[in-house]
Amino acid sequence: MLMMLQRCVLTLCHVLVLVLCLSAAEDFDWTKNDRSSFYYGSFPTGFSWGAGSSAYQTEGAWDKDGKGMSIWDVFSHKKGKIALNDTGDSSCDGYYKVKEDIALMKDLKLNHYRFSIAWPRVMPTGIKSDYINEKGIKYYDNLIDLLLENKITPIVTLYHWDLPQVLQEKYGGWQNISMVNYFNDYANLCFERFGNRVKYWVTFNNPWSIAVEGYETGEHAPGMRLKGTGAYRAAHNIIKAHAKVWHTYDIQWRSKQRGLIGISLSGEWGEPVDITNQKDIEAAERYVQFYFGWFATPLFHGDYPQVMKDYIGKKSAQHGLGSSRLPTFSPQEKSYIKGTCDFLGIGHFTTRYITQKNFPANLGNSYFTDRDLAELVDPRWPDPGSEWLYSVPWGFRRLLNFVKTQYGNPMIYITENGVSEKMMCTELCDDWRIQYYKDYINEMLKAIKDGVNIKGYTAWSLLDKFEWDEGYSERFGLYYVDFRNKNKPRYPKASVYYYKRIISSNGFPNQREVESWKRKATETCSSSNQLLAAGLCLCISDPLTSHMEMVTEIVVPTVCTLCILLSAIFLMFLLRRRN
Ligand code: NOJ
Repeated sequence: MLMMLQRCVLTLCHVLVLVLCLSAAEDFDWTKNDRSSFYYGSFPTGFSWGAGSSAYQTEGAWDKDGKGMSIWDVFSHKKGKIALNDTGDSSCDGYYKVKEDIALMKDLKLNHYRFSIAWPRVMPTGIKSDYINEKGIKYYDNLIDLLLENKITPIVTLYHWDLPQVLQEKYGGWQNISMVNYFNDYANLCFERFGNRVKYWVTFNNPWSIAVEGYETGEHAPGMRLKGTGAYRAAHNIIKAHAKVWHTYDIQWRSKQRGLIGISLSGEWGEPVDITNQKDIEAAERYVQFYFGWFATPLFHGDYPQVMKDYIGKKSAQHGLGSSRLPTFSPQEKSYIKGTCDFLGIGHFTTRYITQKNFPANLGNSYFTDRDLAELVDPRWPDPGSEWLYSVPWGFRRLLNFVKTQYGNPMIYITENGVSEKMMCTELCDDWRIQYYKDYINEMLKAIKDGVNIKGYTAWSLLDKFEWDEGYSERFGLYYVDFRNKNKPRYPKASVYYYKRIISSNGFPNQREVESWKRKATETCSSSNQLLAAGLCLCISDPLTSHMEMVTEIVVPTVCTLCILLSAIFLMFLLRRRN
């Protein structure tokens, strides 16, 4: 009875969400194509296809060749911070496998490769006047040269979360305004040493995570829990640091090096649960503004989104504070920050339904209660890997159109997009990843047809790697990495074949061809690779495989031997009686 009731409620919810989805689609007027239809067509000529990685997630060699410690080295070595207490100490050993990895990129026919420089590898303490580590510089020199020799454009991120530990200990990291100058010195060194060859610079990767997960929830390094203030202060300093570096490049290097400076913001889309409910519409707008607009609005318009100022100001007053917990920019700072983005990098993975939810004042201060909203998901959305990552391709197109209208149609590079798997067992036949890439890339193509100015796309990620607090339990790679083997061998998943076809066709030519890609991709992994996968699989003892092993290796032979023995005894007994 209870089960039946539960089922009814679940079905009712599904129907409700479906109705909401359909009504939302009707109101959506960016294009005539509805979100479930597939669009066959090509990307503009010169569109850049790439894949990405970051230093701490792939390089390993955490203490080699004079590298200093980063906050992630320290954080991951503390017990209980990372799933299974994994660390990035050796990770994919990318530091030693530059040639091998570039061969993979060549095979994919990538136009660009996005990677990050580890600040403490080139400046071990983070402070230029202390010393510069020439061995670290040499490593990146070599990586850049080899990429260029292979006609792969480097897109280089200056900060993908690995702050030098010394700066955290001495100053409190991004809580401290002094980071602005230290970061500027470091960036300046990178322009000086690598800028003759690097033409695309990303200052910060996903500052939302740096601020919220590093200084509000503490799930990420440096693990601080400064609720309701820490994230806003970190973000404030990061925005200033970004602007300063942009100006440094603009004044000192641009005319000689002719490169571009951007930032990579992570933006998940927020869709109102009820498209006819004004409160839900406003809550969804707040979700995107508190996420993406927090950083994009200052860079494009000079100040924080009005809705953030209003909500955080109101909540601060409710808590009896004399001023808002959201810091303010002076008029000079506003004009200094505005317009400091030559291109906008976007990292996008998923979508949420959003509804209005009031958080009472007694819950205390926090970034999350400041927003007055709740996040929901449709239970039918596929979620093959990370808990937070549901495949909702249509949200990508909405976000891209939002960016176009809000920020004056800036030049966009997709700096991250992809999906993970949570697998005990090796799985090279990643058909769900093929589906994810196919649908998300198609929504991006539709967005280009809508007029969004997207110049390139970066699949995230080239390799399986250290996935921050999730350790190695979540795999985003196009290539599988066997982390238990000390040689860290790489194996192509089926999605490699599929992505290669998208790249060589520069889009989706026609239904017959696109369907044949999927068939062939599955074939590439189903024969030899499946054998390989099975071989690898036996090494991992998850409960199901060990149970199967016990059945096949112990139970079956024992029962057979017993049967033979019993038959022999029975036969002997019969023969004796005859005699
Ligand atoms: C964004 C981060 O920049 C990246 O490092 C991470 O791997 C992906 N999110 C997936 O979680």
